[in-house]
Amino acid sequence: EHPAPADLRRLAVEVATAAGELICAGRPERVEVAATKSSPTDVVTAMDTASEQLVRQRLRLARPHDGFLGEEEGYEAGTSGLTWVVDPIDGTVNYLYGLRSYAVSVAVVAHDPAGPPDPATWTVLAAAVVDPSAAETWSAQAGGGASLTDARGSHPLRAGAGPALGHALVATGFGYDPVRRAEQAAVLSRLLPQVRDLRRIGTASLDLCAVAAGRVDAYYELGLNPWDFAGGWLVAREAGAVVTDFAGGPAGPHGVLAAGPGLHPVLRGALALG
Ligand code: IPD
Repeated sequence: EHPAPADLRRLAVEVATAAGELICAGRPERVEVAATKSSPTDVVTAMDTASEQLVRQRLRLARPHDGFLGEEEGYEAGTSGLTWVVDPIDGTVNYLYGLRSYAVSVAVVAHDPAGPPDPATWTVLAAAVVDPSAAETWSAQAGGGASLTDARGSHPLRAGAGPALGHALVATGFGYDPVRRAEQAAVLSRLLPQVRDLRRIGTASLDLCAVAAGRVDAYYELGLNPWDFAGGWLVAREAGAVVTDFAGGPAGPHGVLAAGPGLHPVLRGALALG
């Protein structure tokens, strides 16, 4: 018997909020931008590690038998059948440059305990995505809806069906691998003439939350890691968006496509990636 999703959601919000405060307060005024394109600087790596350790320690105290999968320190198996999937700073490049769109993503998944959590078969039970510079907390629980909490209170999220493709504002993102980027550029050049416009926000978890709130109409990306999308996936799904891979199967590292139920199949066709 797993604990109630509402309790897991509360815990996810609590730890993601603490980590969000840490990374926001701990960002130096000026960060020397790294020499290499793909690797963040030491100071960012240090904050990434500190954030993940804070989350790991708090979760270990609260839920000692659960597993943990984090961007920095990898997978630590638990015995409960639940694993916390954590991105301690999603949007690292924004964080590095001082752009105010980065987040802490904390999700808890039920999965086959024989191995690490697999997005093809896991069940995401609860999640929190905290955007500390906007003071916005996105959260969701399986079957219990999604909400956005900000200075004005807590608002339930409801994604609409989505507009026609020609009126759609579509967010996307790119991994750091140059070969994959060439493929992504080809997809982009096919799509760009067909949509209202594109956005590259730089934070996969917030892209998915933006779909949940109707701030963009859709989001797609290939090559994400589980910690990039686990939390935002649940927020978007619980808000009523359809979130799959490009073939309509479970979302995963090979593809995440989120949109309202009207737009989703149309965008899937336009991307022709399945
Ligand atoms: C990245 C961001 C970005 C996405 C990349 C991710 P990170 O995560 O979510 O928006 O396009 O694919 O790797 O590295 O900042 O945690």
